[in-house]
Amino acid sequence: MSEHTTNSAWGGRFQESTDAFVAAFTASVDFDQQMAQEDIDGSLAHAAMLVKQGILSEEEGAQIRSGLEQVRSEIAAGTFAWSVALEDVHMNIEQRLTALIGITGKKLHTGRSRNDQVATDLRLFLRSQIDEISAELVRLQQGLLDVAEREATTIMPGFTHLQVAQPITFGHHLLAWFEMLKRDFERLQDCRKRLNQSPLGAAALAGTTYPIDREYSAQLLGFDGVCQNSLDAVSDRDFTIEFCAAASITMMHLSRFCEELILWNSSAFAFVDIPDRFCTGSSIMPQKKNPDVPELVRGKTGRVYGHLFSLLTLMKGQPLAYNKDNQEDKEPVFDTITTLRHCLRAFADMVPMLETNAENMLRAAAQGFSTATDLADYLVGKGVAFRDAHEVVGKSVRLAIDRGCDLADLPLADLQALCELIEEDVYESLLLEGSVAARNHIGGTAPEQVRAQVKKQRSQLAS
Ligand code: ARG
Repeated sequence: MSEHTTNSAWGGRFQESTDAFVAAFTASVDFDQQMAQEDIDGSLAHAAMLVKQGILSEEEGAQIRSGLEQVRSEIAAGTFAWSVALEDVHMNIEQRLTALIGITGKKLHTGRSRNDQVATDLRLFLRSQIDEISAELVRLQQGLLDVAEREATTIMPGFTHLQVAQPITFGHHLLAWFEMLKRDFERLQDCRKRLNQSPLGAAALAGTTYPIDREYSAQLLGFDGVCQNSLDAVSDRDFTIEFCAAASITMMHLSRFCEELILWNSSAFAFVDIPDRFCTGSSIMPQKKNPDVPELVRGKTGRVYGHLFSLLTLMKGQPLAYNKDNQEDKEPVFDTITTLRHCLRAFADMVPMLETNAENMLRAAAQGFSTATDLADYLVGKGVAFRDAHEVVGKSVRLAIDRGCDLADLPLADLQALCELIEEDVYESLLLEGSVAARNHIGGTAPEQVRAQVKKQRSQLAS
């Protein structure tokens, strides 16, 4: 004989109590207790609405309010006794409320179901987490702007196919990351906007017979409006999917950034130095300093993608309306929140502390004839057709390779032998500083543009 537990929330219909293993298997309290504050907020708003509508008396409302505040402080103090037998956060809190205030506690659930309750809690929870995540994201963006400003004139190689392509400024490179994060921020805000509708009042699935005021409880909870269909309100979890999709894209961006940091920090590149506090050593190779933070963030990207797929798969076969399957939505969402927040925090702390090795960056940029395009542009400026210019530059590069020197080291006479239109001023274009300064338009790599972007983005961030 297996052990059985009784659950008073539905005991009436049952002839035998729940199998102990099944009770533990179906319980969610171990993880959904994270939403306890939101559950209490939702209950307070629901009770206030019931009072306003005359469904509960003022006296009952006051009792519920003080009881719930007592529960809130017990949870905050860590003295609340969570019980798996009570299945989830909702029933744990309601049971304790009833223990504290008696029969009135049992009236709180009038005109409500755990189905609209859990959907409300999750929306409230995710909303406040999005706000916290957004704050970390902005902190990282601010750090990027500061470093971009500091490095506005630092020259580094710009790559295509991971081969030196054209010289760029490091500030400009960092601003590329800023742009990606800006879109990530917008995606989160967009998700927040769409999830901020109240499911309360949808009850189990069809609504309720009580004369409720959904707009009122929604307003008390800071929702922008109410879900317009009760079946949809209790059953869809698209807002969690949207959040995990937005989080996945942000993680993808961070992961690419990680990859660059790992390369740049390697001794082969030696462009940046990640401060010791963000690294660990090797237990066997004393010379090692490993870029653990970027490696771990890159690794954690996989689990966030996984959560997105868990949720998509969780929803794909569900008929309307609520199904117990939906209980499985929380852990992927919670883990995505924690992972994303921690990764952003680590980055926001680390980025402003990156040390740059400008000399190595410059040396690398000078390799690979990175100003070849500038020579072509110079010739076009002298009236040569681009295709012909391309030919002349190809020959100049060939000559430089044969001599083992850079384009800027070729004597004028040799360049003129390839094209008589070339004059002394060609060396301005062949030098890295001239090359980056010449790309002076919105979105270009010139130091002047980097500074202008930093200024513009900083003022937009502040507003
Ligand atoms: N723990 C449940 C969940 O997370 C709460 C809703 C339960 N509703 C129900 N009809 N069994 O989805």
